[in-house]
Amino acid sequence: MITITEDARAHRIDRRIYGQFAEHLGRGIYEGIWVGEDSDIPHHNGIRSDVVAALRAIKVPVVRWPGGCFADEYHWQRGIGPRAERPTMINIHWGGVVESNHFGTHEYFELLHQLDAEAYICGNVGSGTVAEMRDWIEYITLDGTSPMADLRKRHGREQPWRLPFFGVGNESWGCGGHMRPQYYADLYRHYQTYVRQFGESPIYKIACGANGDDYEWTEVLMAQAGSLMDGLSLHYYTIPSGDFSAKGPALDFDEPEWYATIRQARRIEELLARHCAIMDRHDPDKRVGLIVDEWGTWYDPTPGTNPGFLEQENTIRDAVVAALTLNRFHRYADRVRMANIAQMVNVLQAMLLTDGPALVKTPTYYTFALYTDHQDAYFVDARPDPDDAPGMIGTHGEYTVSWKDGSYTITVTNTSLHREVDATVDLPGRITTVHRHQILTGARPNSHNTVAAPNEVALADFDAYRVDGSRLRLTVPPHSIVTLRVSHA
Ligand code: AHR
Repeated sequence: MITITEDARAHRIDRRIYGQFAEHLGRGIYEGIWVGEDSDIPHHNGIRSDVVAALRAIKVPVVRWPGGCFADEYHWQRGIGPRAERPTMINIHWGGVVESNHFGTHEYFELLHQLDAEAYICGNVGSGTVAEMRDWIEYITLDGTSPMADLRKRHGREQPWRLPFFGVGNESWGCGGHMRPQYYADLYRHYQTYVRQFGESPIYKIACGANGDDYEWTEVLMAQAGSLMDGLSLHYYTIPSGDFSAKGPALDFDEPEWYATIRQARRIEELLARHCAIMDRHDPDKRVGLIVDEWGTWYDPTPGTNPGFLEQENTIRDAVVAALTLNRFHRYADRVRMANIAQMVNVLQAMLLTDGPALVKTPTYYTFALYTDHQDAYFVDARPDPDDAPGMIGTHGEYTVSWKDGSYTITVTNTSLHREVDATVDLPGRITTVHRHQILTGARPNSHNTVAAPNEVALADFDAYRVDGSRLRLTVPPHSIVTLRVSHA
């Protein structure tokens, strides 16, 4: 039995844990978000209206942009001014295609405005200069008169924008410069000095963090630059084989591959625990946030697509991986203040896939839809059965509980392909109302949505539950996720 007591309410789950990542990669920005002002696809100021509507429904809180590896190649001044006059560049990391720079700073803030989301920009340390980074901050945030503010006004934007989050480089240990932690720590100290606060709102500065289990990186960064940062990032991808050179198929996977993927997803628990322990030693007050600004599944690309575009199918397996990951972010949300799934549209574990004018919502999208009530709620450290680990129901079941506005949201995931998971949740009083009862499942573990069959996977009403005084009993079918929101007397 899972027991909830009044005193089990712990830290807040920052809604930014539900953040997204949108990189200039494949069809992520172009086609996926930006269709341009002359497009026949319904848009507002060049941004697809169907994409915006779908993303608003899952309450996207923040969007990280412009990369990724692309960020350390990006020179922002090429992405402002009349679009026809913007210089092009080669997107060297992602397919070697020509980048038009038609989606730049103004278009990004227009997207955020339409989504009602916050900005998280990743600056260029790898191939950019301190002056370039400094000028970008001035261009975006300075009110009044200055060379950069005047330039912004000449390009049509009178008021500054809010820039709450800024990343100083991306994967500086890899595509962002192949640096050693000591060297990057010094560069971080240098660059962040010029991430100046021109406006009234502070900018939360995020240092490039570790690649998976590189604990030395976190140790060095916290020791040598911890006092100068607000956040330190972490990247972790769930790869079924654990091997970047042969990851495994997105669609035609077998049973062992399903369970291998579940194991790889759950590995993030150890990474969170160990990176947080290092941060706790250097920062016991938990001032610095752990920002998991890239996470998600990564498979072999969809056959027939440009391998540099990182397009992959998205099935019930991805929905379950998202749930397992979000559950762990909830548990560690006293340190994890933001996370950004890679990536929002058409790339890796996307929320949405587009094909010309058509739009498909993925199973992962529906996990995010199922979890919206957890945003900004309090994590409830509900006690599991005595034989189980926190958050677990036997081997295959998992739960996460949060509290907000007088009700509890309980989400239970079943990772088994064959067996049901029975759960009993005991609340601190007699249950009076069930506000929400929904399930996300599919006929098969690899059920997915396509343009021809867009509703194979969707949220449905869930009725396999019973209320018995203060107890809620539910039976969760194989490869499913269930959410109930309940109030008690
Ligand atoms: O999300 C795709 C890529 O993965 C990003 O550009 C990079 O930061 C990471 O290696």
